[in-house]
Amino acid sequence: MCGIVGYTGPNPALSRVIEGLRRLEYRGYDSAGVALATEKSAPLVVAKKAGKLNNLESSLTSTYDNATSGIGHTRWATHGGPTDTNAHPHISNDGKLAVIHNGIIENYVELKEDLEKRGHTFTSETDTESVAHLLSDEFRKNQDLAAAMRSVCKQLRGSFTLLAIHSDSPEHIVGARRNSPLVVGVGDGENFLASDVSAFISHTKKALELGQDQVVDVTPQGVSVTDLEGGAITPKAYEITWDAKAAERGGFTHFMLKEIFEQPKAISDTLLGRFGADGKIECKEIENLSLDIDRILILACGTAYHAGLIGKYALEEWAKIPVDVELASEFRYRKPVLSKNTLVITISQSGETMDTLMALRHAKELGAQTLSICNTIGSTIPRESDGVLYTHAGPEIAVASTKALLTQIVALHVVGLYLAQEKKTLSASDIVLIREEVLALPNKVEEILETVEPLRTMTRGFKDSTSVLFLGRHVGYPAALEGALKLKELAYMHAEGFAGGELKHGPIALIEAGTPVIAILPPATSEISEKMLSNIQEVKARGAKVIAIADSTTKLDVPHVIRIPQSLELLQPLLSIVPLQVFAYEMAVARGNDVDQPRNLAKSVTVE
Ligand code: AGP
Repeated sequence: MCGIVGYTGPNPALSRVIEGLRRLEYRGYDSAGVALATEKSAPLVVAKKAGKLNNLESSLTSTYDNATSGIGHTRWATHGGPTDTNAHPHISNDGKLAVIHNGIIENYVELKEDLEKRGHTFTSETDTESVAHLLSDEFRKNQDLAAAMRSVCKQLRGSFTLLAIHSDSPEHIVGARRNSPLVVGVGDGENFLASDVSAFISHTKKALELGQDQVVDVTPQGVSVTDLEGGAITPKAYEITWDAKAAERGGFTHFMLKEIFEQPKAISDTLLGRFGADGKIECKEIENLSLDIDRILILACGTAYHAGLIGKYALEEWAKIPVDVELASEFRYRKPVLSKNTLVITISQSGETMDTLMALRHAKELGAQTLSICNTIGSTIPRESDGVLYTHAGPEIAVASTKALLTQIVALHVVGLYLAQEKKTLSASDIVLIREEVLALPNKVEEILETVEPLRTMTRGFKDSTSVLFLGRHVGYPAALEGALKLKELAYMHAEGFAGGELKHGPIALIEAGTPVIAILPPATSEISEKMLSNIQEVKARGAKVIAIADSTTKLDVPHVIRIPQSLELLQPLLSIVPLQVFAYEMAVARGNDVDQPRNLAKSVTVE
């Protein structure tokens, strides 16, 4: 997510804003910028650079000590690559208004078309720039920045945190939020606005909570909050009890736990703009490719590979296209037969995994069309692909991939539904049904996270285990593989995922008294439900301690049952994997491991 800071008070704004942005660096970013009000009604001082904050600071020719209000931004690119031009702030054509933004404006294209007709000239590829020009027009009507912000927010669709400053009212900073964080820091004769409290915690621990669709107007002397109709609101005040380090993690003990809990929003953000009001599935990234596809080949590594294994089932069933999924590190040494009708989909959170990049190049040499599913705008793999579908999980700091995985699976589901729509391999009513179930996923993940405490407690009872087995069938099998990988990389213990049907072909010999076995159950209506229940009986008979993950339709007689909400069988891994993530996390904590930076591992494996 982008980092956002605003300051107004007696001190030089530049130093306060840069300090705040440094505190937000952990969120990950690819460019940064500031806007400062130096004198009334003069053009703002604006500096913005791709790269790290040092690039920005070295581009500044002064400390602008006379500027006592300003805004600053670290950008995690969503629309438009990480360049100086696309960096925030974005400014009005007269240079007197600047805006910074975190989130996604879904209707920015239509706004931009209308604003260009009104004579505004655009310089960037971002969705945010539309807001700058819109706000400038609204401000011109009554010289009231807060009123202008209220009017603009009513015209926006999507998720946003916005901050704006105008040199005609230089000591005001106005902010607004919808589905994206914004908090007020109340200082002594100075006030702050920021994406999270870590930006100002060293100056004040007094904060005000802002609600959905609220507009805040801060000056050095005061804070006023309204709804979009201008109705006054009294924000909830609170004292920040975290230290700076805890503040970076949003109060969570580890980034991994924070990112597990960010999954509902990550899925929602990735789905933004994908389902049009008319029910159509939108996927421009595929639209620009040839739809003359007779085969899909998914290439990835690690958890991203598991996303491909899970997505394969839906892609095949919905789009009626054969799908293979292969480890990138293996594919690149094979001499496979591909053609221009093969769609190769690479999946990569970082977009820099060397094995996946080399496999992509190999596939291109063999004549395939290539689409990447990636979480990092402007990274190498998307740049070398014919098309790219970006997930919007936000920066994933922990080495163990969690929210990136769920958004990768959701991205594959969008591709599958789009292809089914265009190739008419699903009826319109089936597409509507599936679409509703996909849109219900964020709330269902939220439901799991709200009831996760008993699982965390139960897990600690297994901390001395030497091995854990995971069992699943159909889409539950790659979920089992992912559960095992998480446990390996976090708890440093032996773990294996098996297809339930393979149990009697060898792995059952591993079962002895007390062996923990985590079984992932399909809905009771599934044709494999009985078979999974038989697998549970087989391992129980040999002394296994079974932990079952199941929805409420399946009756179970095992020591531990983790219930998940019901969903379509093909979508169920997006729910069953969440307890597996929490199990691995809790096991790592219980064993005293470095959860966010597990030994021997890197977040992005950029070597072969
Ligand atoms: C997953 O928890 C691991 N961090 C690792 O398997 C990771 O998924 C893999 O290295 C692929 O990374 P990528 O998505 O950035 O390409």
